[in-house]
Amino acid sequence: RPMQYLVMSGSGRAESFNRRLTDVAARAVHDHGGDFDTALITDFPVPVYDGDLEADGGVPDGAASFKERLDVADGLVLVSPEYNASVPGSVKNLVDWVSRIRPQPFHEKHVLLMSASPSMAGGNRGLWALRVPLEHLGARVYPDMFSLAQAHAAFTPDGALADVPLARRLADNVAGFMDLVEAAVHYPCAKHA
Ligand code: FNR
Repeated sequence: RPMQYLVMSGSGRAESFNRRLTDVAARAVHDHGGDFDTALITDFPVPVYDGDLEADGGVPDGAASFKERLDVADGLVLVSPEYNASVPGSVKNLVDWVSRIRPQPFHEKHVLLMSASPSMAGGNRGLWALRVPLEHLGARVYPDMFSLAQAHAAFTPDGALADVPLARRLADNVAGFMDLVEAAVHYPCAKHA
């Protein structure tokens, strides 16, 4: 069967660069033979985490529906902005809510991280910050990450990456991740066989 990927933007802003990069990543998933489903962080609205809210009502619907989308995916491609040299609070807050669900949905989930920013570093520091909670939760975060610098000048009018070597680099990054996911699903280690 084709592998299933959830490709999600950590920004729901209409003109979001991360949203545009999500579309490029989804196309790369398709080109390498995968099935994808796209989402925006804003599809999963959740209040700021509060233990009393959880005690009263359990996890909010936004977190439960993200968990359902994650459960059916062999891999997650998470394309997130960088805020103040770190991960946006909205993204971390959703991760925190989802981490309260049992079985814990990030455990052993394959994740590829990407970012886009108008800056020269492309939001790469935010991805290093995002790795920490995901790896803590047992996600298999792909070592190679893709950060798109100068995102305001990076896209063609039809939404592709204008720089051809950079577009190839993105496609290779996605393909490498997908090959790993495919191998893990088809040849599970003894524990999962
Ligand atoms: C930013 N931005 C930003 N960019 C960056 O490269 N490093 C950073 O530390 C920050 N910090 C930051 C903090 C806050 C609160 C905001 C709102 C923005 C700029 C950010 O990359 C830019 O707004 C992007 O366009 C956001 O991503 P989307 O919405 O275009 O996907």
